[in-house]
Amino acid sequence: MARYLITSALPYINGIKHLGNLAGSMLPADVHARFRRMQGHEVLFICATDEHGTPAELAAAEAGQDVKTYCDEQHLIQKRAGEGFRLSFDWFGRSSNPPNHRLTQHFGEVLEKNGLIEERVSKQIYSIDDKRFLPDRYVEGTCPVCAFERARGDQCDNCGSLLDPIDLKNPRSKISGSTNVEPRDTAHLFLLQPKMQERVRAWIDRATDWPHLARSIAYKWLDEGLIDRSITRDLSWGVKVTKDGKPRKGFENKVYYVWFDAPIEYIGATVEWAEATGGDWERWWRTDKGAEDVTYVEFMGKDNVAFHTVSFPVTIMGSGEPWKLVDRLKAFNWVTWYGGKFSTSEKRGIFMDQALELLPSDLWRWYLMANAPETADAPFTLEHFQQTVNADLANVFGNFVNRITRFAAARFESKAPEGGEPGELEEKLGIELRERIAALTAHHEAMEFRKAAAETRALWAMGNEYLQVAAPWTAIKTDAQAAAVGVRTGLNLCAAFAILATPFIPDAAGAVLDALGIPKGNRNWPKADDRGLLDAIPRGHAFTPPDVLFKKVEDEQVAEWSVRFGGG
Ligand code: MF3
Ligand code: ZN
Repeated sequence: MARYLITSALPYINGIKHLGNLAGSMLPADVHARFRRMQGHEVLFICATDEHGTPAELAAAEAGQDVKTYCDEQHLIQKRAGEGFRLSFDWFGRSSNPPNHRLTQHFGEVLEKNGLIEERVSKQIYSIDDKRFLPDRYVEGTCPVCAFERARGDQCDNCGSLLDPIDLKNPRSKISGSTNVEPRDTAHLFLLQPKMQERVRAWIDRATDWPHLARSIAYKWLDEGLIDRSITRDLSWGVKVTKDGKPRKGFENKVYYVWFDAPIEYIGATVEWAEATGGDWERWWRTDKGAEDVTYVEFMGKDNVAFHTVSFPVTIMGSGEPWKLVDRLKAFNWVTWYGGKFSTSEKRGIFMDQALELLPSDLWRWYLMANAPETADAPFTLEHFQQTVNADLANVFGNFVNRITRFAAARFESKAPEGGEPGELEEKLGIELRERIAALTAHHEAMEFRKAAAETRALWAMGNEYLQVAAPWTAIKTDAQAAAVGVRTGLNLCAAFAILATPFIPDAAGAVLDALGIPKGNRNWPKADDRGLLDAIPRGHAFTPPDVLFKKVEDEQVAEWSVRFGGG
């Protein structure tokens, strides 16, 4: 058995995430982690809140809280939402915790020793009224590219250009609104990425088994040429800059840039996990301590790819130390809200906490993965959501399970029938089942979530077709043995379908398996050549029919949510 280290991009602390964020990193990472565990592999699934940077400080100020209190609260809110969605993290950490501070300072110092960090004086926007420098989002002004008047210092929301605050026209302070600002010299640390350019390229060249999107984005950045990047900011909340373990002179009011410390928290969170559970974090991260046989898989939205294929690898490789690098990177396009942006302030879209109040998490999980934004952006619409979950979950899977378990309860005393022997029909079914399991397994291994969901649905449809033909409800009038075979086969299909659907819909699948009395130890991912799948439930085995698995989403609900969340 192999070992899989799986990380999801760390959600920013500033506010609960919407369904699009969930679909682009945490959810597919969870589906993959569950799949690999079911295959019997050893999995460590890590996530955390990304708590530093101007977004955190600004959101705290807006909430009228100090940053620490704000982050404490928001971390718990996100942790609970993750639990509600059954995200099976082995650890959900915090980038503001001590392990990340220690590791970030370590990397900063090692990179400087290796000649990859240089202190340079550069011009930054200084606010005379606020008596401080204004990094990133603390400045707003007119975009030099498209003339949008409310561009942020780090990025223009109108044209998407990445900006440097110093390039904004008519800059003003986001703190006081003051335009009494001027460029002033101040020192910052720069990561000399071009020095590592060829090593990074050679590494991406070797990453031939990465899914397409991630690799193509990585090449785009490499082809444009890497630049020296400032990795410190004039802020107080964050990781303090050190030299030889002591506060670095001239950097008393500065911290590391959030994008420098955030990916290091993948390691930091693993240290948190180890400290809390007695686990061995080095076995997952240090190739000199056993991590050389770990497969490390990262999940993220496409905007994160550059940081994970260039900046973070520069940190890791540049250290010259035996750290684990990502082996496979799966990136996603956006889930949009009716083709537009999700927005808290404009009340457009459904956020994780709201979704959990409306419906069981399985419905969201299924829809988001069946429509994963893999090859292009994917619009979320309530109408398509309703249509999909009603058709796939209620009508196909739910209906299959209910029909067969009810009938078995009524006519076979809630037991797997004893009589009859499988015939040609079951033989054919077994062949198709094994073929489909092989395909499904391959899709999961390739992290092709849409295809995996489609194959899962095709399995259910195959089951319904079998029942149409076997028709135990008709057979029972004339041929009790044939009816027994149909019912027993149907029950076995229920169990197999539930097992195979577990990565997508863990609650409903678990309910089916519990009702069928399938022991926890018998819920592993089946081998595609397993010939015993239709005979796994012993003859005479007793069960209780599960309750209705999925309630249909009604038109009235869609109408109400459409008003509440700005649909249509
Ligand atoms: N918080 C970032 C975002 O939501 C992702 C950080 S991923 C990390 O875009 F690896 F850098 F932590
Ligand atoms: Zn612009």
